[in-house]
Amino acid sequence: MATVVRPARASDRAFIDSLGELSAAASFSILRPAASGVPAESFRRLAAFCFEQPGTVTLVAEHEGRQAGFLILLTSVPDEVTRREQAFVAYMAVEEGARRRGVGRELLRAAENEARARALPHLSLMVTASNHRARTLYGGAGFVEERVQMTKPMQEGAG
Ligand SMILES: CC(C)(COP(=O)(O)OP(=O)(O)OC[C@H]1O[C@@H](n2cnc3c(N)ncnc32)[C@H](O)[C@@H]1OP(=O)(O)O)[C@@H](O)C(=O)NCCC(=O)NCCS
Repeated sequence: MATVVRPARASDRAFIDSLGELSAAASFSILRPAASGVPAESFRRLAAFCFEQPGTVTLVAEHEGRQAGFLILLTSVPDEVTRREQAFVAYMAVEEGARRRGVGRELLRAAENEARARALPHLSLMVTASNHRARTLYGGAGFVEERVQMTKPMQEGAG
């Protein structure tokens, strides 16, 4: 198979940081445009939080022998509302040149296997409404909407 998903190694860290920082703008809402540098900083904060948690699983996808994407999965952070245990996709990204070749789908499938192996009852994630690529990927993989965050700009044209 052209895509292989494996656990991340220490030597993958530079790849993960660089792709995470480059791709993080996709998670910013069109209602709150981010200043330059903010998405990268937001990814660094998220990654630092994830790597501090026990049970975090980081997966790397190789496509045709080259690093192509990654997924960070939390397995010890319960659902905020119910406090029930879950697996949670904290972040995933695929390199621009490797997109639309099924790499994202394979990463999600591997995350699902990790959740099942731990008998976790749900695999969850958050996605920005305007991130249509990611929403289509998740919908196609069987994810359904559970809660919706709503916001109302307080000023005309507020950003
Ligand atoms: C979202 C993302 C991870 C998808 O990765 P990918 O490897 O391109 O996805 P896949 O090739 O596995 O696509 C699987 C399915 O998702 C949907 N999809 C993916 N990209 C799409 C696009 N640009 N437009 C429409 N549908 C898309 C399609 O249904 C696709 O199946 P198909 O190609 O058979 O039609 C990638 O675009 C990315 O890294 N985006 C920036 C970071 C990001 O948004 N991360 C998610 C944060 S919540």
